Amino acid sequence: MDERFRDAMYRSHDQVFSGDPNGVLVTEVADLRPGQALDVGCGEGADALWLARRGWHVTAVDISRTALDRAAAAAVEVEGRVAWARADLTVTPPPVGAFDLVSVHYFPLARRPDHAALRGLLDAVAPGGTLLFVTHALVDLVRPGSPPPA
Ligand SMILES: C[S@@+](CC[C@H](N)C(=O)[O-])C[C@H]1O[C@@H](n2cnc3c(N)ncnc32)[C@H](O)[C@@H]1O
Repeated sequence: MDERFRDAMYRSHDQVFSGDPNGVLVTEVADLRPGQALDVGCGEGADALWLARRGWHVTAVDISRTALDRAAAAAVEVEGRVAWARADLTVTPPPVGAFDLVSVHYFPLARRPDHAALRGLLDAVAPGGTLLFVTHALVDLVRPGSPPPA
């Protein structure tokens, strides 16, 4: 269901995102020593491409095949430094302790009692590595006229 929903979202436009890397990524990662990075919900790949250009080896994961095909087509120059992978990260956790940087930007992570998907992302960070988790403030998601979040 989520895969079909995401694919339909990407197919509905030639390009969904700007093609620019997320600003927080640029600010927070610019001074880190490149290593292995995981881009969680990479979308059309702008963050993965930016990381690869800076010398990172990137595993870029998304549930949408359409997004991944688009990302790979835009990233031929960094071929070999980005592995594009289709997976549902709420079902299939990434490998444990494998990444010096786990970069999560605007990834829809539903709250679950066992927090399994979140734990999977935390566990993917190598010892001494970095988890960069960026999301919307709840207040920004409230539609005008609707009640504030509880
Ligand atoms: C709001 S977009 C953000 C894309 C990109 N990180 C960015 O900041 O431009 C969220 C991305 O997560 C992907 N996604 C959603 N649920 C997913 C899941 N369960 N597993 C893997 N990717 C997922 C979507 O297909 C989409 O590309």
